[in-house]
Order: sequence, then C-alpha cells, then structure tokens
Amino acid sequence: MCFHILNFGCQMNVADGHWLSQNLMSRGWTAVSEQDAQVFIITTCSVREKPEQKVYSLLGRLKEYVDKNPDVFVAVGGCVAQQVGEEFWNRFPFVRLVFGTDGTAMVPQALERLVSDPDLRISLLDFLDYYPEREHNEKGSVEAQTFVNIMQGCDNFCTYCIVPFTRGRQKSRAASAVVAECMSLVSRGARELTLLGQNVNSYGQDKHGDGTSFAQLLHRISDIPGLERLGFVTSHPKDIAQEVVDAFGMLSNLSPQLHLPVQSGSNAVLQAMGRKYTREHYLEIVQNLRQTCPHIALTTDFIVGFPGETQKDFEDTLDLVKKVRFVSSFSFKYSDRPGVRAEKFPDKIEEEEKSQRLQILQDLQNRITIEKLNQMVGQEVTVLVEGPSKIQGDTQTFWRGRDCGGRIVNFASSFPDLSGKMVLTTIQEAKRHSLIGEIRGEPW
Ligand code: SAH
Ligand code: SF4
Ligand code: F3S
Repeated sequence: MCFHILNFGCQMNVADGHWLSQNLMSRGWTAVSEQDAQVFIITTCSVREKPEQKVYSLLGRLKEYVDKNPDVFVAVGGCVAQQVGEEFWNRFPFVRLVFGTDGTAMVPQALERLVSDPDLRISLLDFLDYYPEREHNEKGSVEAQTFVNIMQGCDNFCTYCIVPFTRGRQKSRAASAVVAECMSLVSRGARELTLLGQNVNSYGQDKHGDGTSFAQLLHRISDIPGLERLGFVTSHPKDIAQEVVDAFGMLSNLSPQLHLPVQSGSNAVLQAMGRKYTREHYLEIVQNLRQTCPHIALTTDFIVGFPGETQKDFEDTLDLVKKVRFVSSFSFKYSDRPGVRAEKFPDKIEEEEKSQRLQILQDLQNRITIEKLNQMVGQEVTVLVEGPSKIQGDTQTFWRGRDCGGRIVNFASSFPDLSGKMVLTTIQEAKRHSLIGEIRGEPW
C-alpha cells in the first residue's frame, strides 16, 4: 500500500506522523507523493481556529483524488479528530479512520484492517489512563535530529487552551522506557534528541510517574554515550525546578536554549489566563537561568488580545519583551476555542485591535531578533546540518542547519552530502531570521 502523511500543528504531531510512517514502512507500506497515495493520513491541530479550518479545506482538496479512484481513503488523527470524532464521517465519507492521541499506537493495525475490508470504518478516540507504549521501529533509519515523547496530555487548563481536552490528562512515560528509546536512537545515528511534552517540567508528577523527576531524566539521557545535543519542549514557567536550571550549568550536551512560553507580561492577564505565575516571577526565572548559563537562547510564546486585555496590559507585554530580549518568539491573536473557560469571558477584543497589537509586538521582536543575530557575527558555532538550503549558490551548494541555540545557519560547501553531519562555521552575516556562516575544516 502507498501512503502519504500530512502533518499540522506542534512537534507532537510531527513525532506521531514520523512514528506512523516508520511503522507502516516496516510493515511493507511505501511512503509516496500525494498524487500516488492510496491512503492519506492527516494529523490535525485545533489550538486556534485557523489551523482547525485548514483540515476542512484540505479534505475538500483530497476529495478530488477519491473522485478519481474510489479506493483512496483518509485517516484523520490529532487534536481536531479527538474533538470532532465520527462527525467527520458524515461530512466526508472517504474518511474511514479517526484517531485521537491515545489511539495512534493502534493506527497501523487499523489501516491494515480497513484495506482488507472496504466496508469498515474505525474510530480510535478513547482516552486511556496510561501512556500506551508504541511498537519500536528498531530497524528504521533515524534522523540526526529526533523527537522523543516523554509524556502525553496536560493538567493545567490554562483558560484559553484546548489541549487538555484534546490530549487528555497528563500521563508520563516510564523513565526506563524513555531512556531505552533514547539509547536505541543514539546507537542508530541520532545526534540530537528533543524531549517532547506539553509541560515537560511536570514530568513524573502524575500517578503514572515512577519517581523520576524531569531533572533526573535529563541527567540520565545526557549520560548516553554519543549523544551530542539534548533539548526539550515545552516548559511551563510555574513548574521549572531549580535542578532543571542547574542542569544547564552541569550537562555539557544540554543545548543552551529554552522555550519558556510567557503568554503575557501583564499580571492581570496572566491571572485571567490561569498561568499561576507573575511577570516578576518570570523575570526572576530568566535572571536565574542567565546566571547559570549566560548565553542561553530564550524563546517564548505570546497571546495578544486576550479577553479584557487593556492597552496598559499590552504595554506591560512590550515592556517584558524589552527586558528579556528573547532570541525569537511566536505570537498569536487570542482565538476562542469551544468549551474552554475564556470562551465565556466578557470584554472580547476586536479583531482589528488584536491585529494591530500583534503587528506592534512582532515589529519589536523582529528588531530584537536582528540585533541578537548581528551579535553572532564573527563567532564560531557548530552546526548540525538538516539538509540543503533554499539559498542558491553560483558554484557551491548551500546547506542549512542549526547551532546549539537553535538558530538557523546557512553556509556554502562543496562536500557532497552534509545532511546529519556537524560542521564548524564562522558567522559572516546576519539575515532577518537566520545567519550565514563559513565552513571551517572537515565535517564530522
Ligand atoms: N504547552 C505549551 C503550549 C501549547 S499550545 C505551553 O504551556 O506553553 C502553543 C501555543 O499556542 C501556546 O503557548 C499559546 O501561545 C498558543 N495558544 C494556545 N491556545 C490559544 C488560543 N486559544 N488562542 C491563541 N493562541 C493560543
Ligand atoms: Fe495549554 Fe496551558 Fe497545558 Fe500549555 S500548559 S498545553 S497552554 S493548558
Ligand atoms: Fe495543536 Fe494539539 Fe499540538 S491542538 S498544538 S496539535 S497538542
């Protein structure tokens, strides 16, 4: 069977899609381009309205393939599938499988059944009260940069957020299973591992934990021989332990970068969001991190136009941006999500006002990003190469990778294939969102 995967949303979906792809290939299926697919698998995101709408327009487009060949069918997974469930079948009859987060482990078997029985439809939407371990894809090739799920779900119920409803309650994976998977990945060629969870700082602090804290897990994984870079997303500021901050000063392969979503710089808005920290607490964490690891690359997320956000609240956010000077940030307009508490909050902000605030925030961030990138000029950085760059060279190929702070570095080289290799570069030039480097010596 020939399949094609379309991923939307966060790294969790990317990781799920990657696991599915590897597992199907180990069963003899072939990954193909869209035109040749018999089965489409879509992982969906409902964190804001826009990504949710994408699913419906995509399904409309995929219908053309079904019209040409009625055997073609679609599996919809991820957060929209968890919410909308079997209603997909009514609107799009060619959707024959819907699966939620906890159903992913059973998707390959379900797809095999669907292929052998054309009248069947399957839904895998139940939440389980444990982390369903997945079959190991021991044989598949491993990318140099690889994600590892360490937990599922979230218990925080920030008032704007749909994730606790789509991904269920927090369930940590056993540390032994995580470490075994990391060891296997490193032995098969992974050089950088990124640990994934909605709130990795509370890893282990649920009834499924085995007593291992997140800091202890970092130490155990960092010790794996051959692992060159270790990172993690996402961290909730209220849960970051001193031991995790200390780890940045102790573990040489722990990348000096941290994504620490602040959402707002206003205490009133933070409280209404249910974030359970203040701007002062956040600034203290930043100071503490910079004392331990002076060059740590901090990134963040913002929501602008949260219900009730005043001009003064928004200015507090701008002030926090100027104080922290994040390397980069993601910022979003508040979007009402069905069933979350903020949906019922009064004083919704006009769309136009939200757009204006977003523009002001992004302009400020862009200025800081450029200044920070310019400070990198002249520095030597090690780059883990992801693949060929979009930049066209006259004689040499350009390659794209990331330094240990997650910054994109493009550089020219005549070495034949550098994907997955590490190279030393000297930074020559800063662009708006990336750096241009010059390769030094041999890749390894
Ligand atoms: N677990 C992560 C975030 C997951 S969602 C954390 O706790 O930080 C990714 C980002 O989407 C969030 O950080 C937030 O900035 C944004 N987001 C979530 N819900 C949103 C909503 N209803 N409207 C706009 N942005 C939202
Ligand atoms: Fe959503 Fe908050 Fe959980 Fe992050 S911590 S996933 S923003 S509820
Ligand atoms: Fe989106 Fe679900 Fe991830 S809502 S951000 S795909 S957890």
